[in-house]
Amino acid sequence: MKIKNICCIGAGYVGGPTMSVIAQQCPEITVTIVDINAERIAAWNAGDLSKLPVYEPGLDAVVAEARGRNLFFSTDVEAAIAAADMIFISVNTPTKTYGKGKGMAADLKYIELCARQIAAVATGDKIVVEKSTLPVRTAETLKSILHNTGNGVGFHILSNPEFLAEGTAIADLHKPDRVLIGGENPEAVQALVDVYAAWVPRERILTTNLWSSELSKLTANAFLAQRVSSINAISELCEKTGANVDEVARAIGTDSRIGPKFLKASVGFGGSCFQKDILNLVYIARSYGLHEVAHYWEQVIAMNDHQKRRFADNIVQAMYNTVSGKKIAFLGWAFKKDTNDTRESAAIYVADALLNEEANIVVYDPKVSAEQVYADLDYLGTRSPGENRKLVEVVTDPYDAADRAHAIAVLTEWDEFKAYDWHRIKDHMMKPAFVFDGRKLLGGNDLPSIGFQYYAIGE
Ligand code: NAD
Ligand code: UGA
Repeated sequence: MKIKNICCIGAGYVGGPTMSVIAQQCPEITVTIVDINAERIAAWNAGDLSKLPVYEPGLDAVVAEARGRNLFFSTDVEAAIAAADMIFISVNTPTKTYGKGKGMAADLKYIELCARQIAAVATGDKIVVEKSTLPVRTAETLKSILHNTGNGVGFHILSNPEFLAEGTAIADLHKPDRVLIGGENPEAVQALVDVYAAWVPRERILTTNLWSSELSKLTANAFLAQRVSSINAISELCEKTGANVDEVARAIGTDSRIGPKFLKASVGFGGSCFQKDILNLVYIARSYGLHEVAHYWEQVIAMNDHQKRRFADNIVQAMYNTVSGKKIAFLGWAFKKDTNDTRESAAIYVADALLNEEANIVVYDPKVSAEQVYADLDYLGTRSPGENRKLVEVVTDPYDAADRAHAIAVLTEWDEFKAYDWHRIKDHMMKPAFVFDGRKLLGGNDLPSIGFQYYAIGE
């Protein structure tokens, strides 16, 4: 089986960058990315590459190279399915907000809709690839829908979870640690191996059975998030004992069995996946009656919630136990640097806690729009949209954010924050001028000697 035409359903943070890179690396394959969100597709087709719906360093160059050659973005889902020999499903799989498993299980309604649409449209054999992160054994559901509602054509299902991290997506896709492909049919597996082998060394393409592949994705995210919660747990102990969490991280990270990555203490992990995927893992374990397993992984989330709450509590406590009517400038709103994604960002929850204490918040983020900040706060439903707009201001100049602020809170580790004129910032702030560094970003700026009251996580 040689793949000539790929369709990807879902033009989001995963579908957009992954398929752009496949198109870039495999010029002989036609790649069409489709989405029901017409606005998103229009943005992917925008002439001005700074307007792409996903901000990722290097993505604009990849799209510029392949778009119009063998990479296409469209809202015509049926036509793209009909033309493809291989269909990736890369739609969102959020935590369920209703019914059984509410707040825990993955909502698979978008996945099922895709399967039904593929089955209805396909008049020839297709390879269907799970790119979305899915509960283990979802391929069974897909198989059942495809075979029971299809036109009698053959379907092969593969699991090919995505491991890219936002902000480094293009580098991760160009040089992945590994590509994982799970499947039952050797020819179908080989067809997908051949696509990746255009640029990924063969020894980095791992093949497994379907269930191992599906479960490995949830497991990888759980392990990564667990490391962040582990170092964050130690950060609180550091604050009480005079140890410095960065020094502890370096000391343990040089042990080759532990390794240095993912040991950066922070205000808490965010992003669309860690929490969602662990909740899903916990739900699956519980559904098999594995209560100890479920309880074990649940603690990773509990620790993360504690870290976000603790950061907000520390701000209030340090500022003489009240922030009512005080202006607090937020540097950063995205869940990490080099992305415009704000899903589950710690900033949202810290802001909510401080707004409950009647603080006024001014937000500056180099890539996040005011509409997004308000949408995130409105989604919480803690207060009315009107109140959110009254209490929270979003500015496009960091110095405006700091002007007459009582405190600055660093929520995202954007590099540009280190290059600011911190003398100028202090001069325009209320005194004492507080900085709460949720990313341990400004240690090198020697803020105490400039006259700031400087608090960093884990020191
Ligand atoms: P996203 O919300 O950015 O994009 C999903 C897109 O799918 C949306 O644009 C939506 O309109 C579209 N869609 C939904 N149903 C559709 C349908 N029936 N037909 C056509 N389009 C439809 O989500 P994402 O961040 O790209 O994540 C997608 C999946 O990949 C999730 O399962 C996620 O867990 C997983 N994942 C995400 C990341 C990440 O960094 N964001 C990394 C690895 C894996
Ligand atoms: C994460 C995984 O790293 C990817 O492999 C996976 O594909 C993806 O989830 C997914 O399935 O969606 P992502 O969420 O984009 O990627 O970004 P990460 O770099 O993992 O960061 C997640 C959160 O943890 C961020 O808020 C980040 O600031 C925080 N973090 C990370 C820390 O606080 N400390 C660290 O040492 C590392």
